[in-house]
Amino acid sequence: ESTAHYNNDFAGKKILVTAGPTIERIDSVRYLTNNSTGRMGYALAQAASLRGADVTLVSGPVQLQVPNGVSVVMIESAAEMFEAVTTRMADQDIIIKAAAVADYTTDKVTGKMKKKDEDLTLTLSRTEDILKYLGDHKDEQYLAGFAAETEHVAMYAKGKLEKKNADVIIANNVGDSSIGFKSDSNAVEMFFKNGTSHIIPKMSKLEVAHEILTQIKRDQDVR
Ligand code: CTP
Ligand code: CA
Repeated sequence: ESTAHYNNDFAGKKILVTAGPTIERIDSVRYLTNNSTGRMGYALAQAASLRGADVTLVSGPVQLQVPNGVSVVMIESAAEMFEAVTTRMADQDIIIKAAAVADYTTDKVTGKMKKKDEDLTLTLSRTEDILKYLGDHKDEQYLAGFAAETEHVAMYAKGKLEKKNADVIIANNVGDSSIGFKSDSNAVEMFFKNGTSHIIPKMSKLEVAHEILTQIKRDQDVR
């Protein structure tokens, strides 16, 4: 991958990227998770690092190599991701929340649960919305969120932009199985705070990552 044409345009910038799924443990051997592979977040971390940024990657459990030059913080649960991100937010110029964070967590059982004759009911409680917390507490940081949608993509993405006080929401149509979660390629639409939007057509996740960074830089420079 040639990167010379990006000309170190993120030199001196501190970027935090979250990636991957979270896992919420039910007991010592069982957990709830989702389909995220972490590839989009890792591609963003790699692209930002190649362009000279000082990159911190906060990652859930994934089967991926950490890109060269990137500092990684491995976490498991949504609560651990919240802690890892919020304690580092003050230092960052740009925060990109590509992780698929669990919306609900379990009431943990210690040890391994024994099966009983009756059905089991799990009670799930809400996790804290990390992106919303960042939006409510940020200073100068540029805040980018993702939105995984299966329908009404623009409407839901714009709703999340507003509700979480983000600068941009990058919408993924996860209903199309040829892109998104398990695929090597992706296609997204970016919805900016100023009401404009930008379509990134289907290309490799690394190429999408570079284009997302270029658009963020352009938007941050005019902000
Ligand atoms: N997000 C987060 N913390 C959570 C849940 C989501 O930071 N507890 C972030 C994700 O990392 C993503 C954005 O919020 O950047 C949108 O996530 P998404 O799941 O699409 O939206 P939700 O607000 O959780 O709404 P829903 O799942 O109902 O669509
Ligand atoms: Ca969610």
